[in-house]
Amino acid sequence: MLGNFSYCNPTKLYFGNDSLKFLNDELSKYGSNVVLIYGGGSIKKNGIYNSVTEILKSCGKNVAEIEGVMPNPTVDKLREGVKIAKNHKADFILAVGGGSVCDYAKAVSVSVNCDEDPWDKYFIRFEEPDCKIVPVGCVLTMVGTGSEMNAGSVITNTETKQKIGHVFASEEVMPKFSILNPKYTLTLPHYQMVSGIYDIFNHICEQYFSGKDDNTSDYISEGLMKSVVYSSRIANADPQNYEARSNIMWTATWALNTLVAKGKTTDWMVHMLGQAVGGCTNATHGMTLAAVSLAYYRHILPYGLAKFKRFAVNVWNVNPEGKTDRQIAEEGLSAMEAWMKELGLVMNLTDLGATEDMLEKLADVTIPLNGGYKPLERSEIIEIFRESL
Ligand code: NZQ
Ligand code: ZN
Repeated sequence: MLGNFSYCNPTKLYFGNDSLKFLNDELSKYGSNVVLIYGGGSIKKNGIYNSVTEILKSCGKNVAEIEGVMPNPTVDKLREGVKIAKNHKADFILAVGGGSVCDYAKAVSVSVNCDEDPWDKYFIRFEEPDCKIVPVGCVLTMVGTGSEMNAGSVITNTETKQKIGHVFASEEVMPKFSILNPKYTLTLPHYQMVSGIYDIFNHICEQYFSGKDDNTSDYISEGLMKSVVYSSRIANADPQNYEARSNIMWTATWALNTLVAKGKTTDWMVHMLGQAVGGCTNATHGMTLAAVSLAYYRHILPYGLAKFKRFAVNVWNVNPEGKTDRQIAEEGLSAMEAWMKELGLVMNLTDLGATEDMLEKLADVTIPLNGGYKPLERSEIIEIFRESL
């Protein structure tokens, strides 16, 4: 472990099938003007909306609603929400939904008291808030992003086809609390469930595939990866299995709450490629990652051979006997590919609506990063997209 870092995560978590009862206590800490934010209606169908609004009512809150936050929330929707929250003089924002709703709530929270345009300030110039941030709490209904315990917010500009994430440095942006009830995730369609599972797995990979030092973060990552692979197989066969779904929920939070990034440079190129695809096609986040991962990892494997070998042996139980390092590493990726197919993930960009004539645009909106084993040139980015079609 050779890095220098600080660690603080202020989000309080309530976990389990009766965790919503703690919402009362949490709400009592904030003023009476609450903005309730949710998505396209799943919470009305499965009853979570009723449970939450009853609690808000019993606490005497004055509630304004922002509904219809779409997957891959847009900057237009953000500007609309900021107006509602401003008019309501929001004291507190309650996000009820998945990563899109939680991310959106954070983006609103840093924009309510800011006079500048949030897209330019936070997603183009990557500035930190210099205004009062409205506190956010989350009731999570979809598992994968880790947004419930981090300071990330991803917003899409449909005009420019840019999908950009800002991980704020300020701990103030992190949710004050998150309520994680695995039961709430049982109504997710299979497509969303497995997309979220791959998102979790890939978050861990993005942090694991960097650095050459012996780092405790990598050992924690391997444990998390093994847990999510094990539980995903149970959940795939039996989606109503509470134990598997609760392990998946907990793993998701620890996969991206900064813990396993400690002391690491971190890669995040699969996310940069996937977000470019999301910006151009509006495809589901986890599926965009699944579609580009194998081409990317096979491309960088020679540059991070020792780590790919370790991944094969420690995560996928590849028997190293009598094999070269390269063979072992490649077998690890083949085992990962077999698992991805078993889950029913989308394995190519064509199925997500991308076409050959989009390759240049996809490269234009990909943000290259250099924390991984091989910083990519534009030509390599195009090649990886082409191989993923
Ligand atoms: O909108 P509703 O009707 O609620 O339906 C949603 C949506 O269609 C549905 N859903 C959610 N909970 C449900 C449910 N359906 C039935 N039962 C439930 N309990 O699921 C669909 C997808 O929801 P969404 O919130 O979009 O999914 P996810 O949690 O994967 O969030 C994706 C967004 O998060 C960003 C992604 O880029 C994407 O914009 N990310 C945020 C990160 C962060 N904050 O750190 C990191 C991630 O890498 C990711 O980039
Ligand atoms: Zn992700």
